[in-house]
Amino acid sequence: MTVPEKDNETELKQQSLLFRQIFKSQKWWQNIIDAITDYLFVIDQEYKILRTNKAFANLFDKDPANIIMTPYYELFDLTGPHEWATLLIEKESLQPKSVEREINGSTYLISSYPIYFDEHDATVYIMKDITETRRLKDQVYHLDKLSSLGTLTSGVAHEINNPLTGIIGYTEMLLMKNKDDTHKKYLQNVYDSAIRCKKIVENMLTFSRQHRAEKSIEKVNDLINRTVELHEYWLKSTNIKIIRDYGDVPGISIDRQQFQQVILNLLINAEHAISERNVKGEIAFRTSYNEKTGSVNIIVSDNGSGIPPDVLAKIFDPFFTTKPVNKGTGLGLSIAHGIIAEQGGTIEVESSMGKGTSFIINLPCS
Ligand SMILES: Nc1ncnc2c1ncn2[C@@H]1O[C@H](COP(=O)(O)OP(=O)(O)OP(=O)(O)O)[C@@H](O)[C@H]1O
Ligand SMILES: [Mg+2]
Repeated sequence: MTVPEKDNETELKQQSLLFRQIFKSQKWWQNIIDAITDYLFVIDQEYKILRTNKAFANLFDKDPANIIMTPYYELFDLTGPHEWATLLIEKESLQPKSVEREINGSTYLISSYPIYFDEHDATVYIMKDITETRRLKDQVYHLDKLSSLGTLTSGVAHEINNPLTGIIGYTEMLLMKNKDDTHKKYLQNVYDSAIRCKKIVENMLTFSRQHRAEKSIEKVNDLINRTVELHEYWLKSTNIKIIRDYGDVPGISIDRQQFQQVILNLLINAEHAISERNVKGEIAFRTSYNEKTGSVNIIVSDNGSGIPPDVLAKIFDPFFTTKPVNKGTGLGLSIAHGIIAEQGGTIEVESSMGKGTSFIINLPCS
């Protein structure tokens, strides 16, 4: 029996309408998938890409259509799947899973969703770049640690301060009264150690900044000069040359004592770094005013040993030191960082091994 021509035509029309609707619907879904900025791809049991969005393909400078049926790991220049891919694709549980992984220096939250696609088992992967979120989380955690450390430190420091004052006072008295040289030598050792403890306690108290900042309008160039003068004797004995390259800098509102403490810390650090090298030491103080940003720029540079890259990331951490026990407490730079940050400024470091180090401070004027 032959189908009447009219019926055939209607059926064809209906089919073509249906195809167009399917095509439109596919395009619609693809557009939605492409609007997702996270990296999305669907793979089969052999890790071959069945579907992907633009963001994922763009990651490898490819067109989504050109990477279909490519084993996904080849795009990462690998010969096999990542361990997270095998982990997430495991079939025992058909539950969505998530893992956090580092890939090429970025942190991703990778989630997998098992689905049934085109009559096959498949897995949808969504990779979310959480590098910035992770960095901020770590920073909050670090700040939180610092604030509890500050509270703890100030408590302990106050407790230690009183008995320490007693030890120093009585040792001083015994030193004056005692005539026996051996006893005096031992007492001097006790005295020196107690003074060192006092210095640590003072540093700890400054670190937790229990005293209120007393701000006044100060001239940065004058404050640097005064701090260097305080240390003049020591600088002469070490034969270090001080270079002053001061710009015309307006007065800024700052706690004089705190600012001098920052400069002194940088100066002493520079001296230590120079003493580790057999060179004619130079420490330069450069100041300038940036009218555009309305901030004062202070650079303290030395031609000391420099800081190795693995140490550089830790130098602002409290109690981090590379110096022997009697030379550093590891609080100098964390105190400096805290003081400058409280002032709304920044302190950064640039260092080159065997050449020297520069600390760059930026302080807003208002
Ligand atoms: N100018 C510099 N050159 C080379 N290394 C430096 C310099 N400044 C700091 N560092 C490094 O950073 C570390 C931390 O410095 P920081 O001032 O916080 O502590 P410290 O000098 O070790 O002890 P403290 O200042 O409490 O006596 C130092 O131990 C040193 O390794
Ligand atoms: Mg120091």
